[in-house]
Amino acid sequence: MRTIIITGASGGLAQEMVKLLPNDQLILLGRNKEKLGQLYGNHAHVELIEIDITDDSVLEDLVADLYLRYGKIDVLINNAGYGIFEEFDKISEQDIHQMFEVNTFALMNLSRRIGCRMKESRKGHIINIVSMAGLIATGKSSLYSATKFAAIGFSNALRLELMPDGIYVTTVNPGPIRTGFFDQADPDGSYLKSVDRFLLEPDAVARKIVRIIGKNKRELNLPVLLNLAHKFYTLFPKLADKLAGETFNYK
Ligand SMILES: NC(=O)c1ccc[n+]([C@@H]2O[C@H](COP(=O)([O-])OP(=O)(O)OC[C@H]3O[C@@H](n4cnc5c(N)ncnc54)[C@H](OP(=O)(O)O)[C@@H]3O)[C@@H](O)[C@H]2O)c1
Repeated sequence: MRTIIITGASGGLAQEMVKLLPNDQLILLGRNKEKLGQLYGNHAHVELIEIDITDDSVLEDLVADLYLRYGKIDVLINNAGYGIFEEFDKISEQDIHQMFEVNTFALMNLSRRIGCRMKESRKGHIINIVSMAGLIATGKSSLYSATKFAAIGFSNALRLELMPDGIYVTTVNPGPIRTGFFDQADPDGSYLKSVDRFLLEPDAVARKIVRIIGKNKRELNLPVLLNLAHKFYTLFPKLADKLAGETFNYK
């Protein structure tokens, strides 16, 4: 039986991933145990842990305890994250620190703490749920994009460092998904409305993620159209900026 950790476990994408992993030992991390219990109380092999993932000393103790009790972690899915779609001058210093704590630093801290254990056992897979916003920056996503670009940079280097030990590191970079993410990112619903026809469904994204567990896949960029847009953005940055700033400026 594989042992899989998922952070941000009460989120929309996590809920769909959990449904697809009935035969694995799941360790689900979230901010509210009661909420986790309501969602996953009936799951056969699950441990629910209420935790502040932004506190690295708590992560250190958690990892030590999990390895004592389970002996191994096969898969770490760093899924916790949030966004605020706002103009750069409306973002506070507190927002900057808090979003980096969750989207970037917690992902880095958990990856390095579990990555070094995986390195010892020469086995494992770290899957970082990042975002298309970490590959293509658009207006009103300066902070969110910055946290996600950093997460991709970290993951790309980590992949190279862990490659000789047979450990895989994958970044998952989806475009907009129909989840509660937008309650906070886009409270008035205007962005959601403008991208409604492009929205990915969380069960479809979860299926694609679950399928690559244990596979040596560098990145999973979704949907195909945004993956192409990312390639275009890399090849023709000036033109891409023009398009992102004018024609495709949805936020
Ligand atoms: N939805 C999208 O359009 C979209 C697109 C691309 C990438 N993503 C990324 O996909 C991942 C999953 O998001 P989702 O769509 O499933 O959104 P979601 O339903 O809002 O779930 C995200 C989960 O992350 C955790 N989280 C949120 N804010 C947090 C905070 N301040 N501190 C600690 N944990 C926090 C929460 O889990 P707990 O309540 O259990 O702590 C939350 O349920 C995120 O990393 C997000 O950035 C989402």
